Amino acid sequence: MLTRSLPIAGRAAREPIDPSLDLEGEIARLKSDKNAVILAHYYQDGEIQDVADFIGDSLQLAQAAATTKADVICFAGVHFMAETAKILNPDRVVVVPDMEAGCSLASGAPAEKVAAWKAKHPGAVLVSYINCTAAVKALSDYIVTSSNAEKIVAQIPREKTVLFAPDKNLGGYLNKKLGRDMLLWPGTCIVHDTFSERKITGLKTRHPGALLLAHPECDDVILRMADYVGSTTGILHFATKSEKKEFIVATEPGILHQMKKAAAEKTFIPAPPEANCACNECPHMKKNTLEKVYLSLRDLEPRLEMDPALLRAARVPIDRMLELSK
Ligand code: 13P
Ligand code: SF4
Repeated sequence: MLTRSLPIAGRAAREPIDPSLDLEGEIARLKSDKNAVILAHYYQDGEIQDVADFIGDSLQLAQAAATTKADVICFAGVHFMAETAKILNPDRVVVVPDMEAGCSLASGAPAEKVAAWKAKHPGAVLVSYINCTAAVKALSDYIVTSSNAEKIVAQIPREKTVLFAPDKNLGGYLNKKLGRDMLLWPGTCIVHDTFSERKITGLKTRHPGALLLAHPECDDVILRMADYVGSTTGILHFATKSEKKEFIVATEPGILHQMKKAAAEKTFIPAPPEANCACNECPHMKKNTLEKVYLSLRDLEPRLEMDPALLRAARVPIDRMLELSK
């Protein structure tokens, strides 16, 4: 069995940050001194997005990682995204602001269990959503993201048995859209599974002109109500280009930072969760802070290191995905 990627142990105690430090200025200086880039996902806090060199959805971030010439990549996102960057850049330094920033989809699909599922279906094709560990990627025939899944699954011959892991909502959405019957791993995202049909219906009544924009990780009941379903970048572009003025956004509200920048005159309403909580915010993405971004660039740790055999095996379906996404 291939081992999982290992964090290099951080320093026992880090030097504290001088409270008067101009963090943005220091981050800019460190990027230049160390020839580093910051790649950030849309779910990061606005202040992290504002110091990033590139902001995107999972596919765009993988594409940016595949083409960067920087010596150091600071990945402001979650662990599986940083792993993808490392897989594509085995010889570069990849640092993450917080090594504990995981993902409920990735942790809900342990490689041993996915391997056992695959073994029960000899000859089947395993398609994995990029929100999975490197060890699951290494078992997969195809990796997909929310922005290319439809295109890639459509190319798999219909007579093939297809296993789709780990997001049952995205898999179910693809099954419906493409008329397929892929077998689905029973995983969900803790954030996208929380949106309330009842509260969104209430919002639609109070904002009759508003369009509902949803990420395909949402439950089917939300996807059926949606006016547009797409990746974070897809949602951003749709809202920016649309002639409509009001949008209910059923994805993590970090995306609103770029939406408001791109279309300040429009109204963006974050879709509410069923419970009275902030659980529409991704607790993993929000582990990263501007201070941790600064420290990761200053100290070049926590640093992502991976078992070379795992890295090579996981790279095969990622390269295939990048090729099929051109
Ligand atoms: P995107 O690839 O659409 O940005 O989605 C990533 C993600 O983790 C959604 O929860
Ligand atoms: Fe994972 Fe959901 Fe967070 Fe995306 S929002 S990183 S799928 S837990």
